[in-house]
Amino acid sequence: MPALSNPLLQKWFNAFMRLSHRALTPLVQHAADIRLPLRGECRAGQVYLVGAGSGDAELLTLKAARLLMQADAVVYDRLVGDDVLALIPSSSERYYVGKARGHHSVPQAEIGGLMVKLAREGKSVVRLKGGDPAVFARMGEELDALAAAQVAATIVPGITAASAAAACMGIPLTDRGHAQQLRFVTAQLCREDGTPDWQALARKDETLVFYMGLSKVNAICHGLRQAGLPDEWPIMLVANASQSEQQSLVGSLADMPEKLAATPLPSPCLIVVGSVVQRVATTPAALAATNFCSAPQTTP
Ligand SMILES: C[S@@+](CC[C@H](N)C(=O)[O-])C[C@H]1O[C@@H](n2cnc3c(N)ncnc32)[C@H](O)[C@@H]1O
Repeated sequence: MPALSNPLLQKWFNAFMRLSHRALTPLVQHAADIRLPLRGECRAGQVYLVGAGSGDAELLTLKAARLLMQADAVVYDRLVGDDVLALIPSSSERYYVGKARGHHSVPQAEIGGLMVKLAREGKSVVRLKGGDPAVFARMGEELDALAAAQVAATIVPGITAASAAAACMGIPLTDRGHAQQLRFVTAQLCREDGTPDWQALARKDETLVFYMGLSKVNAICHGLRQAGLPDEWPIMLVANASQSEQQSLVGSLADMPEKLAATPLPSPCLIVVGSVVQRVATTPAALAATNFCSAPQTTP
């Protein structure tokens, strides 16, 4: 601070500085000081089908966070992260309907019945699903169950695994020079003797994203090569995308089965096929220089 020769001036200057500091500090100090619009309704007797995003709680929408804090009951799946569940007040009811290790998921009809029962008891209900509720999450069946019981439903989208995985690997899903189309595919059809239309899937101008495909990597690589994609066509696997334990493998259709056998990845895992994968920085130096999301990138 400059020293002023006139003591009165100095006094005024100090007072001015103190006041400006007090006025400006709250604006810049912490993001937490910013007021977020977390007010709104969460209606009794209504079900909210809410996307929890890919696991990183900061990737939750503000609306999802608000509803989780307000709902009387939350019905949730296996892929919802602990940080997200931590937002649910202890006074709210919680119902886990995901698959326990080695067991089947709760049947879909039972989940529908539970949501209808809770709503009819006059509760506000959040049906929380990993990623986006509209992407491979049986939302259509749940909407049908609610409609049949005349229970009002609201949909709150979430960040799907494909968006999270691409962001955390620092690549686009579409790109003018690489892929003008993007396709989300369930790998449940990709058994060795399965029925995917490999000819239709084997395109060089698009990015293919396979959900639920960790056990089908061999079939996917084989099917796409047989249908005409080159052996060196890029493919990447991202497990636990956007979470602290994220792991990835980057390779080609020819070598990925071997890479995966040598370095097995855990579930949940997403498979991305297409030339956008060429943009992944794979050298240790390049990875160290980039920080595409909070998750560390392990590329064996
Ligand atoms: C039943 S689908 C649910 C998809 C979810 N609704 C979404 O929009 O991401 C489950 C599959 O999503 C993918 N998945 C979900 N979360 C993931 C994550 N954090 N990292 C990688 N893959 C994920 C995996 O392929 C997993 O087998």
